[in-house]
Amino acid sequence: MEQYVIKGGNPLVGEVEIGGAKNAALAILAAATMTDETVLIENMPDVRDTNILLQAIKSIGAIVERVDRHTVKINGSQISNLVIADDYVKKIRASYYLIGALLGKYRNARVALPGGCNIGSRPIDQHIKGWKALGAEVKIEHGLIITEAEKLTGSHIYMDVVSVGATINVMMSAVMAEGKTIIENAAKEPHVVDVANFLNSMGANIKGAGTDVIRIRGTGKLHGTEYAIIPDQIEAGTFMFAAAITKGDIMVKNVIPKHLESISAKLVEIGCEIEESDDAVRVVSSKPLTHTQVKTLPYPGFPTDMQPQMVVALALARGASIVTESIFENRFKYVDEMTRMGADIKVEGNTAFISGVQKYTGAGIVAPDLRAGAALVLAGLAAEGVTTVDDIKYIERGYEDFHIKLQSLGAIMERVDSERELQKFKLKIG
Ligand code: EPZ
Repeated sequence: MEQYVIKGGNPLVGEVEIGGAKNAALAILAAATMTDETVLIENMPDVRDTNILLQAIKSIGAIVERVDRHTVKINGSQISNLVIADDYVKKIRASYYLIGALLGKYRNARVALPGGCNIGSRPIDQHIKGWKALGAEVKIEHGLIITEAEKLTGSHIYMDVVSVGATINVMMSAVMAEGKTIIENAAKEPHVVDVANFLNSMGANIKGAGTDVIRIRGTGKLHGTEYAIIPDQIEAGTFMFAAAITKGDIMVKNVIPKHLESISAKLVEIGCEIEESDDAVRVVSSKPLTHTQVKTLPYPGFPTDMQPQMVVALALARGASIVTESIFENRFKYVDEMTRMGADIKVEGNTAFISGVQKYTGAGIVAPDLRAGAALVLAGLAAEGVTTVDDIKYIERGYEDFHIKLQSLGAIMERVDSERELQKFKLKIG
């Protein structure tokens, strides 16, 4: 019974260091198998998802050497098995990046159909459309996606929806195709750019990442590299909201403020003060929060991965707010847990109608997925009394040392794994 137990009510104050971007790391680790030379990756977040992907990479024969907690060396020269087993894929959706990588390098990959956070239907038709356009045959049989190609040839691909995963996956395969590929309506997220920069540092020729048209000139072969992953935009945003929600003052360090603009703008709108420097953002929440309207959108819009943290803030703000989720249709499941803490939110379809309340009260709640889980922890930190959060395995998929970082900002919380430890915490706080 791993749980967080939280005594809420005190403002979080201090400095916090943000780690490497999980969603960039997952693609970069997969892409590292695309050369026979050794690749050194720094600033890798030590979270459950990256560790599972490293196991999957080992399972196909690549050599994985953990240099230290945040640095890993990968050598893909010994890859002998192009099948990624169900076990890994069920645990992390992003193992599908190994299709893009292996199809590119070996013209063949078999990967179980992806699982991942349960936030709505998550089709992969755009990935498949891209691979087919490059000349691959793609079949789904016995729960596996089977991709094969005699030869990959550059193509002009228009994505019907803006998809981070499809853009990255098709970009990886196109790097190894003959000739030029153009991906239109590409995703522009910072991690798409980071993966393109990583591939370019291995000898790829990718231009336009970060805009909606990416141009790739195929290169037959990639070489080794050393690369540091960008800071995690969503981890940073979560700590920025921790300041807003707990009426705190947090200096969020080791970030790229440009990647946080949509988050900073909304925090200012609801009454926080923001100070930016080259690689840090300070959020001060000294006034009552005020209502607003938010719609999640692909980058540079407000990220869907910040939607639950936003709702937790607005449910404590004065007045009525509206939050519309336009990326994943099932991303309001955590609202029931918030209701148990005293929030007043009504969900209709993809829209949450929020009436701000004065306070949350502690309750026993369950994390339904990664970002909602983190947001519920923030609610617990603002709540009167004790909150326990179950299923924290979801949170640990994407946040490194979440409770330790929060404790360093003054949070009264522990990670416990027995009833005895839970009672000990309750006794300690009185
Ligand atoms: C990535 O998921 C992230 N995951 C998600 O983060 C994030 O929420 C999402 O991008 C949006 O930013 C990783 O990077 C590992 P999409 P991804 O393809 O790539 C539809 C987190 O909490 N779509 O950009 O799976 C899809 O249904 C996680 O860290 C298709 O229709 O998301 C959705 O509505 C959760 N067909 C929209 O596009 C496709 O072939 C965007 O999805 C692909 C996607």
